[in-house]
Amino acid sequence: MNQSVLRRGRNLVLPILVGLLISLGLATPILADGKTASGNQGAVSSRSAISSEVGVDIMRQGGNAVDAAVAVGFAKAVTYPSAGNIGGGGFMVIHLEDGTVLTQDHREKAPAAAHRDMFLDEDGEVDRTRALFSAQASGVPGSVAGMLDALERHGKLSRETVMAPAIRLAEEGFPLNEDLASGFNRVAESMQDYPASLALFTNDGQPWQAGDLWVQTDLANTLKRISADGRDGFYGGETADLLVAEMERLGGLITHQDLQEYEVAWREPARGSYRGYQIWSMPPPSSGGALIVQMLNMLEPYDLGAFGPGRAETVHLMVEAQRRAYADRAEHLGDPDFYDVPMEMLMDKDYASYRFRDFNPQKASRSEDVGAGMWPEETLETTHYSVVDGNGMAVSVTTTLNLGYGNRIVVPGAGFLLNNEMDDFSAKPGEPNVYGLLGGEANKIEPGKRMLSSMSPTIVTRDGSPVLVTGSPGGSTIINTVFQMIINVLDHDMTVAEAVAHPRLHHQWQPNVIRYEAGAITDPARSKLEEMGHVGLMESEGLGGDSFTIGDANSIRIFPDGRLEAASDPRNAGGAAAF
Ligand code: DON
Repeated sequence: MNQSVLRRGRNLVLPILVGLLISLGLATPILADGKTASGNQGAVSSRSAISSEVGVDIMRQGGNAVDAAVAVGFAKAVTYPSAGNIGGGGFMVIHLEDGTVLTQDHREKAPAAAHRDMFLDEDGEVDRTRALFSAQASGVPGSVAGMLDALERHGKLSRETVMAPAIRLAEEGFPLNEDLASGFNRVAESMQDYPASLALFTNDGQPWQAGDLWVQTDLANTLKRISADGRDGFYGGETADLLVAEMERLGGLITHQDLQEYEVAWREPARGSYRGYQIWSMPPPSSGGALIVQMLNMLEPYDLGAFGPGRAETVHLMVEAQRRAYADRAEHLGDPDFYDVPMEMLMDKDYASYRFRDFNPQKASRSEDVGAGMWPEETLETTHYSVVDGNGMAVSVTTTLNLGYGNRIVVPGAGFLLNNEMDDFSAKPGEPNVYGLLGGEANKIEPGKRMLSSMSPTIVTRDGSPVLVTGSPGGSTIINTVFQMIINVLDHDMTVAEAVAHPRLHHQWQPNVIRYEAGAITDPARSKLEEMGHVGLMESEGLGGDSFTIGDANSIRIFPDGRLEAASDPRNAGGAAAF
């Protein structure tokens, strides 16, 4: 029996959505109706309530967590187009029933015609508009290859079964909620050059309203081709023809050969331990796993739980760990197929204590001046979802187009948005990207290379069983969000809903500022931190929202008795479902 608990953020549109899902045969009325849900046979937490319900329904049909994760992934390409995608890429961490943990990299790759200086203008300066808002901004998409490969290797249900809900949602439509309608209306302005984008994100030139039925016929047809032909339905045939035609029209670089040659990579997980728990996260080309393990290693000798969240001692420790880890990111991290990333060193406990040897409990250290960083002003979007079934299988997926709605280009006739992930490369050494992140040699543009990422889907286990499945969007803040999720649950004994909702802070070495949500640092702690020499403390107004970079940590806690508690982030719309 479903034990859904609605704690906060009741979404008035949800009953309409659930009604639609029921009429589509995708849900039953007793499924979760809110931000948190619990059960013991399956749970999903994601940024799209409809997609969470899709995932739970797939498990009800006998699917495992991988079947459900793939169904959620395709559904989110329909129900959450700013970040859910088939035109982008992501990472997947899978905990199998036997305790094995696998990490799958379906990050986009630079097309063969890409080159190091492709985003420099004639003065040698980075042309950020081209790096973000042009056909050249797109890497070769990896999401479809990733989802299909995971399904073939570890799913139980057919491709047709897991893709059916996404196809129905695209073909028959679903009513837009306020969140989606307002997002479309905001982004439409930046899509004026792309009629296929305007055709989707405006209602015949007019703004969309909450409650309008949103039908995506071209996307439904693309999904049908994938359902029928597998990866050839995307990387070959009509879909590939449409994508390459748009590239040729707009001067983009992706060719048929790039699409054909795209391969998923299964990689050795980034692995560490923290207070008797095992941490499994994404290795390069993500920087997340290495940094999370390194930061936890630095903090393990200190009793954060005794200090308490938001206190000066805790924040000082966290910020000093973040400062050092993000400095390592800029120097050492890139695609391991092209650059020798010193993973063993970065995740070694002795290295962490060496790195932390100059930590002064009374005084802030100073970030070295390696070039000015800047905070992003763009609307940012990535999305994370967590799935757990009743048999010990857990899946943690973070997926993105990079910025919300990627480069804004919908492939005409194919109905999906393209990513602008090429900006995650270091276009010029010492020049910060849109997240203010620095990089150099390790992350320079090279043909066929994957751009460095911060996406950090993570699973925490104890004695071979999953305990916490977590991850987040938020560009450079992703790593610190996951870091704080782990600390909140393991050190501060928060429930998963409390841990997800708890205000967060972020420091990334450069720029040397501590940005925090109200409540993440108490007022007395702020004064004390400033006395210790911390600079640039910035309290952000309000939580979440599209322009706020701290993301939705949609997470699931698994208890030894099999109970599953799923919590979607109260910062934004979205939902958890369980049974
Ligand atoms: O892979 C990365 O690190 C970035 N492309 C993620 C972008 C992101 O999280 C934006 N959103 N919230």
